[in-house]
Amino acid sequence: MQKSQNQSQAKTMNQDEMIQFRKKHFLPTAALYHKKPMHLVKAQGEYVWDAEGKKYLDAIGGIVCISAGHNHPKIKRALMTMLEEDTPQHTSTLYINQASVELAERLLEESPEGLDRVAFTNSGSEANDLAFLAARQATGETMIMNLRHGYHGGTAGTLAQCGHGTWRFRAQPVAQSTSALEPNCYRCPFGKKLGSCSFECAKNIETTIQTTTHGKIAALIVEPVMGVGGFITPPAEYFKMAADIVHNYGGKYISDEVQTGAGRCGGDFLLSRELGIQADMVTMAKGFGNGAAIGAVLMTSEVAQSMAGKAYFNTFAGDPYPAMQAKLTMDVIREEGMIENAKVMGQVLKDGLEQLMKTHSLIGDVRGRGLMLGVELVKDRTTQAYATEECIRFMDECQERGLLLGKGGLMGNVIRIAPPLSIKRDQVDFMLRVMDESFHALKKAFL
Ligand SMILES: Cc1ncc(COP(=O)(O)O)c(C=O)c1O
Repeated sequence: MQKSQNQSQAKTMNQDEMIQFRKKHFLPTAALYHKKPMHLVKAQGEYVWDAEGKKYLDAIGGIVCISAGHNHPKIKRALMTMLEEDTPQHTSTLYINQASVELAERLLEESPEGLDRVAFTNSGSEANDLAFLAARQATGETMIMNLRHGYHGGTAGTLAQCGHGTWRFRAQPVAQSTSALEPNCYRCPFGKKLGSCSFECAKNIETTIQTTTHGKIAALIVEPVMGVGGFITPPAEYFKMAADIVHNYGGKYISDEVQTGAGRCGGDFLLSRELGIQADMVTMAKGFGNGAAIGAVLMTSEVAQSMAGKAYFNTFAGDPYPAMQAKLTMDVIREEGMIENAKVMGQVLKDGLEQLMKTHSLIGDVRGRGLMLGVELVKDRTTQAYATEECIRFMDECQERGLLLGKGGLMGNVIRIAPPLSIKRDQVDFMLRVMDESFHALKKAFL
């Protein structure tokens, strides 16, 4: 009796009560964006609505998860039909399900040359964990190298490869992990400038292997645009040098496309293919499922073969509904020309942000690829002092005006912009107008 009363109370909680409940019963790590936290109740295309009926342009899509747009009609209809037809919710990989095979077929069409094996997972973390396992199995080595400022997930295995102190826990063992310096052209750890540097960042991978390992590694994991790190965008040349070094030392190259995949960067479905990255494995999640909990690992047959004879099982991975959602997301992205749109709209947005930079000295850097754009805020362009408080305030100003943005960077001073790939010109103009107004408001507040 007591229990069912509690349950019905939970159903009628208002927003403040839900916030209080979260504070009391969720883990203390569960943060909320915005001074005025938002309760989202509806989503369609590029927009979301809060419980008060206010409409927002969603330029972050959860956290870089909405690629084809919220509740795309084609995807929605297909899922409703599956429910009506009593399609199994769950099969596991021990039974055949058509959606997972069709999804794998579509993914292999989009994958970089040589990657012809696929495994599904429920998240990006699991995809990376599986990639580490495969790399270790294939090489007989255990050391995984990551980049400082990188992020690859919240499981024990992936946290051990995290390049952010804020995400690491004292109690989390960090074994068989070593870090190379980050390829960040705005804050180059070598004090160099792109154009006159010798890619010291790529060469640092070799030095790190030589100085912190016994001379061989299992893998290097790299995000082609470093998401949580604040959309740090390494130059294209970096990746060939990095892969060559890793291969010379017997390791596998893992390209973590959890954020960059699904056409977000505007050139191809996977940035690894667009940039010709010689990856042995590519991992995906987020925008791949357009909101569904699904991840994937693509790998070479050679790496996959090293796992033969062992059991690897993942109960929900590739189940019919998320697999169908991911497959239809891929179809919609291609059918509706969303990758090309990401390129065109991404450029319009980037040009607009560079214009804003002329008026607003708070903007230290504008970077990114396609519709994955970062705006780094600094108190002073010469000292590059991190404008962390200003970044939070800026997001709130934009929220007030109906625009949702994300945040990243070790010091939380980078605005992350990653709208659905379906975004239109008038929506880009709206974003730029709101950001301009919000910067002006910020100037007044911090005078
Ligand atoms: C680049 C990258 N890899 C992996 C992950 C982990 O993905 P998930 O949160 O789905 O486990 C994330 C999550 O933010 C990510 O940004």
